[in-house]
Amino acid sequence: MILKNVLDMLDPEHAKRVSLLSMDLARSLNLSEQDVERIGYGAHYHDIGKISIPASILESGIQLTEHEFEIMKRHVEYGLSILSVQTSEEMDAAKVIVGTHHERWDGTGYPNRLKGEEIPLYGRIVSICDTYDALTSKRSYKSAWPIDEALAYINNQKGKAFDPYLTEVFLQMIQEGALV
Ligand SMILES: [Fe+2]
Ligand SMILES: [Fe+2]
Repeated sequence: MILKNVLDMLDPEHAKRVSLLSMDLARSLNLSEQDVERIGYGAHYHDIGKISIPASILESGIQLTEHEFEIMKRHVEYGLSILSVQTSEEMDAAKVIVGTHHERWDGTGYPNRLKGEEIPLYGRIVSICDTYDALTSKRSYKSAWPIDEALAYINNQKGKAFDPYLTEVFLQMIQEGALV
């Protein structure tokens, strides 16, 4: 499948871990197995739009200028446009995740500044797992954070970036060692 090859050019291990973590969180929330599968499928694609972002911007991480960050934000719309070539119930879940994984609970995220439960549940789930994996992974511009520091950060973002209830369930899940 062509889209899968495109994904492999990005960061397939990150995509895989975010997918597994998101499925775990969905199960911890007692969602149906169908939801769990769709979230797992869709989470693979969350950053697919980064294929259209210049490597120099992808690699500069947190040191992005304001202008570069504006370009980086476009990976959401690029992702939606890449996925628009396919329609299926699974792919529709992927589109929801691509479109909303950078929204924030407090309404300051992008691209649509959705707030609270206006943000689809799938996007709220992937947002936490994406951030956690990004923090605990080594990137070209940063070392991997220790798990306790990453958890403290996630906890600090409860009600700011993240849905407070999902944050609680996520923290408990990681602390219980479901997937570390
Ligand atoms: Fe993203
Ligand atoms: Fe990501």
